[in-house]
Amino acid sequence: MEIGTDINKAKAFLEKGELVSIPTETVYGLAANGLRPDAISKIFAAKKRPAFNPLILHLAYTNEAKKYASYFPEAAQRLATQFWPGPLTLVLPKQKHIPDLLTAGQATVALRVPQHPLTLQLLRSLDFPLAAPSANPSGYISPTEAAHVADQMADQIKYILDGGKCSLGIESTIVKCDGDDVILLRSGIISIEEIENCIDQKMQQNPSTSVEAPGMLLAHYTPHKKFLIGDIAHLVSKHPTKNIGILSFMPLQKFSNAKIQLSLSPKGDLTEAAQNLFSYLRSLDKEDIELIIGEWMPENGIGIALNDRLRRATFLSPQENKKSEDL
Ligand code: TXA
Ligand code: MG
Repeated sequence: MEIGTDINKAKAFLEKGELVSIPTETVYGLAANGLRPDAISKIFAAKKRPAFNPLILHLAYTNEAKKYASYFPEAAQRLATQFWPGPLTLVLPKQKHIPDLLTAGQATVALRVPQHPLTLQLLRSLDFPLAAPSANPSGYISPTEAAHVADQMADQIKYILDGGKCSLGIESTIVKCDGDDVILLRSGIISIEEIENCIDQKMQQNPSTSVEAPGMLLAHYTPHKKFLIGDIAHLVSKHPTKNIGILSFMPLQKFSNAKIQLSLSPKGDLTEAAQNLFSYLRSLDKEDIELIIGEWMPENGIGIALNDRLRRATFLSPQENKKSEDL
């Protein structure tokens, strides 16, 4: 495995049907030729991703979408025009020639034109689109730097195209167009209000557990360490003998049994908190601590998407929940 900024190298591997990690403005992706089932299957194997969870197809240009979507309604047109290249994924009825493996057998396909200069240049040099989920083992925290990808996926991929730190830090907003209905499948940096303003209609909000977005499982983005969320001072006082790591929004007082305390945004800015969330969670997960304690973000704007990620990162099965009461 190699890390570098050589687009031609990345291109050569992808043309051979190999895996390459690509930078995007949201998180790093694990990319392969999106039209070749043998290449796509390497993604599922490398991530240990369940076969029922479909992948996003990344395109070089907005006007390519019609090659892959059999129906491109007015709302999709408006959204693509306003937000592509950018952190928006559109789920639309698929064209027949798209491999079933990519869409996990669904009749729809997820499309996005990402906004990162290296990856756009790469996509524009290829004569196929790129299938790319986030470049983490299935269920773990998404990578926002090349080093995060190298840490966990080095043995599974040929090349990491290093585009620096991801500027946004959480995954794209996913919107499904179903006839004239527009449905939010995953919250992200582009907010509900921005989407509704763009399409001039109300959007339905899918319960996040729905099979509609098979990847939106309750447990996701989960660190290996136990992670509790709530009132930090209260949770810390309940665990006086534990070695604790703290993840707060703004800086807090120093707690004596906290080995490390991180603040997502010293100035209380949700955009900055999004840039740091996954990377701080990863570093806390590596610390010699027994427990991570965090708090909810203000539930507005980007805070909605951040709380969605936090909820999944702390999701415990009923058995685990029982165990955590004894912690
Ligand atoms: O920002 C992003 O979207 C990043 C970068 C790399 O582009 N990609 C990403 O991919 O987050 P992934 O695979 O980690 O998450 C994609 C989500 C999954 O929850 C998947 O279930 C959902 O999109 N998805 C993909 N195709 C779908 C479809 N046809 N219908 C409904 N949901 C779909
Ligand atoms: Mg993912």
